[in-house]
Amino acid sequence: MKATRLTVVSNRLAIAVDQQQKGQWTIRPGSGGLVTALGPVLRDRGGQWIGWTGAGGQAPIDAAFLDELLANGSRETGYTLRPVHLTADEVQKYYHGFSNEILWPLFHDLPSRCNFDPTYWQVYDRVNVKFAQAVAAHTNGEDYVWVHDYHLILVAHYLKTIGVERRTGFFLHIPFPPLDGFIKLPWRFQILHALLRYDLVGFQTMRDRRNFMDCVRMLMPQARITGHRHIAHCLTPEQEVLIGAFPISIDFKQFAEAAASEEVQEHAWIIHANLPERQLVLGVDRLDYTKGIPLRLQAFANALERYPELRGKVTLVQVVVPSREEVPEYEALKREIERLVGEINGRFNQVEWTPIHYIYRSLSQKELLAYYRTCEIALITPLKDGMNLVAKEFCACSIDNNGVLILSEFAGAAAQLHSGALLVNPFDIVGTGDAIRRACFMDEGSRRNRMAKMRRSIQRHDIFQWVNAFLRTGIHKDLDQFPRAELFLPTAEQCGSHGKLEDPLSGGRPQQPGSSLAPPLS
Ligand code: UDP
Ligand code: G6P
Repeated sequence: MKATRLTVVSNRLAIAVDQQQKGQWTIRPGSGGLVTALGPVLRDRGGQWIGWTGAGGQAPIDAAFLDELLANGSRETGYTLRPVHLTADEVQKYYHGFSNEILWPLFHDLPSRCNFDPTYWQVYDRVNVKFAQAVAAHTNGEDYVWVHDYHLILVAHYLKTIGVERRTGFFLHIPFPPLDGFIKLPWRFQILHALLRYDLVGFQTMRDRRNFMDCVRMLMPQARITGHRHIAHCLTPEQEVLIGAFPISIDFKQFAEAAASEEVQEHAWIIHANLPERQLVLGVDRLDYTKGIPLRLQAFANALERYPELRGKVTLVQVVVPSREEVPEYEALKREIERLVGEINGRFNQVEWTPIHYIYRSLSQKELLAYYRTCEIALITPLKDGMNLVAKEFCACSIDNNGVLILSEFAGAAAQLHSGALLVNPFDIVGTGDAIRRACFMDEGSRRNRMAKMRRSIQRHDIFQWVNAFLRTGIHKDLDQFPRAELFLPTAEQCGSHGKLEDPLSGGRPQQPGSSLAPPLS
């Protein structure tokens, strides 16, 4: 089978559709690393992206509106968007339930947060059949079907069950847990067996790959694994599966260029002018208990407590992007974060200084990049994270090489950035507090050396290198070998003005890198 078209399949499309009031739909760019990473991969390749629009939780979306919206999106992005519709019950049990209340916490080593409701599994199974049917309907033998993330583990299995032969690859964006965590999953055999129905299974790090292979060895004695280098082979009674580690990355060049644009620079100066004469420490996270936000706030308070010289001189800018608001755990986390922010600000506040500048909303790309540029220190302390693209984006935007990255040992990004970042154990409040102080007082030479090292590594291993490594392993092809195909879509005039997608990084005019916006403490 020759692969001539790339079909990406993920739970979410790059957009999310919401109904604010009855009959009034709005669209926004989807949040999270998967959407950021895959956008540049598919752009202008004439391929297709099959996924859910995010609608269905509240009421059925108007079909004509959706068609118009997706046609506009396809024209702007250069690939075709194919929606999969979910009912409210499916959203509840497949997405909020099995995906986000079972697989998400379990795979992030937090089994006590799992809700192993058996009805979730039935609906997860059913929705994976639905996605497999959508793939069967929109592809032929010449497509390379690349499935992403934990929501859709069963798709290759169901393609085979309904007799549809496709070349398939699967990439897991989140960590794979160690054996003693994975075996708690009541559906462990089904999940493992389904993963071994793909031709290629990719993980973020060698640690994740090792965990997966340990589980296969222990739970599937009929499977034989050979090869321990970059790619391992697993022979099952049904087929041969390749297993690899492919650390995901970002479109480095586009981030660096957009960060240097006049528009971003101007916005960065506005932020700087409003938070003057102090070093800014930045946290950017979806609202998620895996991101370690409460412990990070406590570490910041601990640093202020033990190092009074930081008071009045350092502000933590904490951006929290709303996420999965229907899951009760997330609502409780929001309250906990806001309580801590209030408590710390109340305790240390001075007339002209508020310790924590808290933002609870999704930022535009211009704003986000302006924060990356203005803040000298990024404080990224997930309890566990597949990769953490924010860490890489911060480095890419540190175009004057002056930023300091404080990074959790338990983020996938630590495997690549350990020699430049200040690594911390996010559970260690005192240790993280010490790292904050160290970052604030780090001399310029060390900052530049460390940041230059990290930027070189991210530039070399960017998103295109990632996709090529995966595709070469899966089908011996590079991204460039997927030709740009004709898109059979209505013209802009036929579509009207609805549903324009924000192009996250376009429009920036490159200019010379500026100097740092605030000096380190001395
Ligand atoms: N992000 C965003 N809007 C915001 C803040 C962040 O779109 O207001 C993006 C950010 O640029 C990054 C992604 O969200 O690409 C977060 O990815 P990451 O891998 O750090 O974590 P995830 O949310 O996928 O767990
Ligand atoms: C992580 C997951 C993605 C997911 C994203 C946002 O990055 O790996 O699959 O899309 O979080 O979460 P959401 O539930 O809003 O899709």
